Amino acid sequence: MADRSGRDPGPLALLIARHIAESGPIGFDEYVGHALYHPTLGFYCRGGGAGRRRDFLTSPEVGPLFGAVLARALDHWWHELGEPEDLVLLEVGAGPGTLARSLRAAGPRCLGHLHHVLVEVGRTQWSTHPDGVVSTVDVPVSAELPDAPVVVLANELMDNLPFGLVVKTSQGWCEVAVGNDGDPTRGRLVEVFRELDDPRRRWCDDRAGEDAPVGARLAVHSHAAAWLGDMVSLGANRGVRVVAIDYTSTSEEMAHRPWTEWLRTYASHGRSGHPLEDPGSCDITTEIAVDQLDLVKPPTRVRTQAQFLADHEIDALVAEGRRRWDQTGITGGLKAIEGRSRALEAEALTDPTGLGAFSVLEWVVPPGAPIRVPAGPHQR
Ligand SMILES: C[S@@+](CC[C@H](N)C(=O)[O-])C[C@H]1O[C@@H](n2cnc3c(N)ncnc32)[C@H](O)[C@@H]1O
Repeated sequence: MADRSGRDPGPLALLIARHIAESGPIGFDEYVGHALYHPTLGFYCRGGGAGRRRDFLTSPEVGPLFGAVLARALDHWWHELGEPEDLVLLEVGAGPGTLARSLRAAGPRCLGHLHHVLVEVGRTQWSTHPDGVVSTVDVPVSAELPDAPVVVLANELMDNLPFGLVVKTSQGWCEVAVGNDGDPTRGRLVEVFRELDDPRRRWCDDRAGEDAPVGARLAVHSHAAAWLGDMVSLGANRGVRVVAIDYTSTSEEMAHRPWTEWLRTYASHGRSGHPLEDPGSCDITTEIAVDQLDLVKPPTRVRTQAQFLADHEIDALVAEGRRRWDQTGITGGLKAIEGRSRALEAEALTDPTGLGAFSVLEWVVPPGAPIRVPAGPHQR
């Protein structure tokens, strides 16, 4: 049956509406989990995601330069550790594996020492994957890793982990849950505001600031915080460096901006509609309020992506590419063309109004350092 907008509901909307009819409204985080990762109907599991032929471009998808710079960064971190015999590179949210391929193709010095593990949700995207060992999130990865220092790399992962949502009403902060409109056969999903207990209301006030206007909203990153806690804990005894690259904000900023600016939906390289419309058809993503991750562990270092790439000598790679092209021109084949393209790729990767403004967040736990990870924000 068509909904009020005249469209037939998608199969996942119907499934979620029926689930709500049986068990009551669900948290926004649970909704995002279904919309993105339902094993057959979720956005990612249906083949959506990063890439020119998919839905949005990420830095690795701009071209191989990003992976080449990360190969340099990896060598730098390996050298800082004293060039150990074994180094684990745990790439979480590896998408279609583009970064893994370009990083390895750049031939970092540590390549022969690298245990490169790619972690994704399920295995559906992995049939063509040539690089490293593939693990699923259902398996505790720590059980599979050699006892060696770990570098965790997560490019645009955290913005795609399920997140909760709260809203300030005239009665104070409430959770934004997801219900149906009373008739599950219509598959129409609606927001339901649920009361929060006092400690959670106080948490919202502390994060958003008491002057946040009625109507203000906040993403709640419990899942990202739990993920960060798990990754930091991997470093017990062997040491870990977690490098997460993402678009960031703060809770206070979020509460003072229109929520549709920081909670976005994408499909086919364009913005999509309301996140409750046609789940499974688009990506649902949020900026990351870094203050909520500080509650787990403040980052050791924060740089913009532009600064990070400059620190790891993107300019030298661009100059080398230009030289290659100048020496051979088109007779140098693909390698020469790739060299010439580096200048354009660098422009996109360091653009201060785009990818260059992303944050590179690093948490460094040296081997043997005591690890104490407190509970993340606003645990449900
Ligand atoms: C925005 S894409 C980024 C892909 C890739 N890193 C890139 O930069 O092109 C986010 C990826 O994270 C994956 N993902 C989400 N939750 C995950 C989890 N808990 N563990 C591993 N991967 C996850 C998604 O399936 C998706 O492929």
